[in-house]
Amino acid sequence: MKNFKRTMFCYEINESYLNQEVCLAGWVNRRRDLGGLIFVDLRDRSGLMQLVFDPTLQFEIMELAHKLRTEFVIGVTGTVINRQGAVNPKISTGKYELKVIGLQIFNESETLPFQLDGEATVSEELRLKYRYLDIRRKQMHDIIKLRHDVLHTIRNYFDKHGFYEIETPILSKSTPEGARDFLVPSRIQQGTFYALPQSPQLYKQLLITGGIERYFQIARCFRDEALRANRQLEFTQLDIEMSFIDEQDIQDLCEKLFKELWSKFLKHDLELPLKRYSYDEVFSKYGNDKPDMRFGLEIMDLTDLFKNLNSDTLSKIIGENGKVGCICVQNKKFSRSEIDSWIELVTKELGGKGLITIRWKESGALDSPIAKSLPDNFFDLAKIAIPGLTQQDTLFIIAGNYDTSWTILGQLRLGLGKALNLINKNEHKMFWVTDFPMFEWSEEDQKWAAKHHPFTSPEQNWENIDIAKVKARAYDLVYNGEELGGGSIRIHDPIVQKKVFEKIGINEEDAKRKFGFLLESQTFGYPPDGGIAFGIDRLIMFFAGTDSMRDVIAFPKTNKGSCLMMENPSTVDESQLKELGIKSLVEIRPLPKL
Ligand code: AMO
Repeated sequence: MKNFKRTMFCYEINESYLNQEVCLAGWVNRRRDLGGLIFVDLRDRSGLMQLVFDPTLQFEIMELAHKLRTEFVIGVTGTVINRQGAVNPKISTGKYELKVIGLQIFNESETLPFQLDGEATVSEELRLKYRYLDIRRKQMHDIIKLRHDVLHTIRNYFDKHGFYEIETPILSKSTPEGARDFLVPSRIQQGTFYALPQSPQLYKQLLITGGIERYFQIARCFRDEALRANRQLEFTQLDIEMSFIDEQDIQDLCEKLFKELWSKFLKHDLELPLKRYSYDEVFSKYGNDKPDMRFGLEIMDLTDLFKNLNSDTLSKIIGENGKVGCICVQNKKFSRSEIDSWIELVTKELGGKGLITIRWKESGALDSPIAKSLPDNFFDLAKIAIPGLTQQDTLFIIAGNYDTSWTILGQLRLGLGKALNLINKNEHKMFWVTDFPMFEWSEEDQKWAAKHHPFTSPEQNWENIDIAKVKARAYDLVYNGEELGGGSIRIHDPIVQKKVFEKIGINEEDAKRKFGFLLESQTFGYPPDGGIAFGIDRLIMFFAGTDSMRDVIAFPKTNKGSCLMMENPSTVDESQLKELGIKSLVEIRPLPKL
């Protein structure tokens, strides 16, 4: 069987190929030796096809067929016939089999480190070490194909709307997205470094100055930040920028794209226009800026209720400008140990000082650590503040600084929502959050910082407003409690840009050194513009129905930032460092022995 050439994928076989000769190639999925007859399930990218080797075949071919084991890579020539045995309704080629007339073994396989159909028992570590084998599994394969289909749909959409896809550099300069940079030392100009882009933010603004008008990119971004289930060190953004537009234009464009994607990949019809909520509104009700609105348990402000009750701790906090936030879990009596575990969550994991609970005993008496400082008619007073309150309900209360207490309540709310099974997994809650604060106070640096990034346009007349209250022309798209993307209308006036830098403590010299090229571009005909970026990996997670970002990336890093397959990050040869003019402060680990 010299010069073997595959003629088709397994899935292409149908009735029209009956009694025809075809050539297939792929992996041995399973082999069954029934004495005289040998059956092999051949697997290629598209699916399975049953091969039959019968003893009338040439002796050498039968001998080769006897050698076949799982995961051998083979090529076969044969005639498509109707299955002699039972039809397999589970696969599209289940009615047919290939009566083999020629066989070639391209590569043999040792016993694999794990079974490809035994995912439940395989550790993720092993799967990542042998990722190329993991990718042979149907589940992984389907996700990779899904990712391709999503990107293809996105590319078509933007092409249809007159956007150019433009690649921006990976060897770049520090960008202002707030994480740490990955640095790459220059060999040619020793002592200098490139930074890998945290996003193409500055390039896309410069493309707009270049008159591109409508830009998009499926862009690789790099951020050296703490890893979580929904974060990777390198990830992919759908990055968009447009000139002469306002918030509504960009939001409309994105909504229509998401409607198409949701319909195609989740069979769900998103209702447009999406709802818009202000940052203040969502933070006051949910304690964060990306609330999961698939369930209630909204945070209530009970400061006024507690103001006049002589509760020692609470009155003191309120007196110091603190707030009292409350989550009311309706019709739920928690056991003592359940209550203790929620207190533990708040104090040990969420950094809260305490969690006050208020419940009612069968007798109607209060059951709360602050019961003594509450009046006898507390229930009647609370009922006015919490419409629909009953004595079957449980109140969880946190008091203190508004931002801190509400943030903790927001996390407690999520914990309660999950534990009490309140999240309807079939719901699709997608909406915009707008009117973000322009600046936020950084305790660590003891200065104001830009909440989005410093090229975001502040609202009109912002200079006359208290810095803590200035709103940005920024918007986030939130879906089921996750931030899918965020963007803003940019500053196009160099004077405004200079003033924003001043507010966040970047002096003229610093601004020039870091972003001189952008500031200069704002003096050479810079159009008003805006844009947004979405996390592609997060998007695919929703479509694939997985909770781990690693599942949707072909070669992901672990949560310690390692690639277990290539074993990186890895040590380098001293001579390589020398060439780069670099001396390490820590001992360079020796190169592994080959
Ligand atoms: P931002 O920093 O909000 O905005 O990022 C946009 C989106 O990128 C995704 N994302 C991540 N995904 C995986 N791993 C990570 N470590 C990670 N970090 C962010 C999120 C997020 O919503 N240049 C601006 C956009 C703009 O203003 O146009 C930017 O990068 O889904």
